[in-house]
Amino acid sequence: MKAKGQEMVLLIGATGFLGPHVVEKLLQNNYSVTCLVRKSSDASRISKLEETAKKAGKKISLATGDLEDTDSTIPLLEKVDIAVYMVDLELTELLENFLYAARRAGLKRAVFISSTTVLVPLKSTVKEQKLKSEELIKNSGLCYTILRPSMIYGSADDNNFSRMIEFIKKRGFFVTFGKGNNLIQPVYIEDVAEAILSVLNNSKTYNKIYNIAGKEPIEYNRMLEIVRNKLKKRFIVIRVPIRPAKFLISIYAAISKNPSLTPGQIERMSVDKAYSYEEAARDFNFSPLSFEEGIEKLIKELD
Ligand SMILES: NC(=O)c1ccc[n+]([C@@H]2O[C@H](COP(=O)([O-])OP(=O)(O)OC[C@H]3O[C@@H](n4cnc5c(N)ncnc54)[C@H](OP(=O)(O)O)[C@@H]3O)[C@@H](O)[C@H]2O)c1
Repeated sequence: MKAKGQEMVLLIGATGFLGPHVVEKLLQNNYSVTCLVRKSSDASRISKLEETAKKAGKKISLATGDLEDTDSTIPLLEKVDIAVYMVDLELTELLENFLYAARRAGLKRAVFISSTTVLVPLKSTVKEQKLKSEELIKNSGLCYTILRPSMIYGSADDNNFSRMIEFIKKRGFFVTFGKGNNLIQPVYIEDVAEAILSVLNNSKTYNKIYNIAGKEPIEYNRMLEIVRNKLKKRFIVIRVPIRPAKFLISIYAAISKNPSLTPGQIERMSVDKAYSYEEAARDFNFSPLSFEEGIEKLIKELD
C-alpha cells in the first residue's frame, strides 16, 4: 500500500480549462501525475500543463491516448491507482468507453466531474445525458466520487466571467436577459481543484455525489454590482426581456451554422441556480470563496 499522496493518478481531460489547476494541486501534494493527451490536443494546452509542472518544480508524464480508442487507454489505466475523469459527461459514449477500459485494466478508484446542470429544473438533452452517465458510474463497480460543480470561473481562459470582464472593459456596456433577480452561485476554479484533491483518498467520499458551488448564492443583479465595484468602472447594463430575447435568439440560431447562444440557454439564464454544499463541507471541509473574493482575484489576474 502506497503512502497517501504517493499514488499515481491519470488525469483525463487535463488539456481542458480545469485541468492545469488540478495538475498544480496534485503536484504540490506529491502525487505522481500522468495526463492523457490526444494526438489532436491543442499544443498550447499541452505546453500549459508542462509550464504548470515546471512552476511547481515537478514533472508530469504525458501519455497519448483517446477515449474513442480503448486499446490506447487500457495500458495507461493499468499503471495508475486513481483516475480523474474531467471529460464532459454529456458525452455518454466516451464515458462508456472509459468504464469498459477501467474494468479491463482492473482500476479500482476514479473521481468524476459532473455538473449542477443535472439539478436545473428544466428538461434538456444535456441534463438527461449527464444523469445517464452518472447512473452508469454508480453501477460501474468502481469506487467512485462524483463532484458536481456549478459554473466554474477564475482563470483568464474561462468562458464566463473573464469574457464578461474583457467585454465590459472594451465596450463599456453589458447585455443581460430578464430582470436579473435570479440566483447564481459560481464556483472559483481553485476551489474545484482543491475539492478534487480532497476527495481522492478520502474514504468518507467513496460512492457519493457532491454539489460544489460558491460560498453563497447571489442575485444576478448583485453579481453585476460586485463586478462594477471590483472593476472600479462604470458600465451600462442593457436588459432584454426573456420573451423577445428567446424569439430573437431562435431566429439567430436557425440561420447561424454555429450559434453561440440558443433559446434554451436564455431560458436557463432566468432560472435560480442555488445549491447546497453541506455534504461536501461535512465530508471534506469544502469551504469555497465568496464571489467577491473570487472575482477580485480574477480581475487582478486579467490586469
Ligand atoms: N467549465 C465549467 O464552467 C464547468 C462547470 C461545471 C462542470 N464542468 C465539468 O468539468 C469538467 C471539466 O470541464 P472543462 O471546462 O475543463 O472542460 P473542457 O475545457 O471542455 O475540456 C474537456 C477535456 O476533455 C478532453 N476530451 C474530449 N474528448 C476526449 C476524448 N475522446 N478522449 C480524451 N479526452 C477527451 C479534451 O481534450 P482535448 O484537449 O484533446 O480536446 C479536454 O481536455 C467537465 O466534465 C465539465 O462538464 C465544467
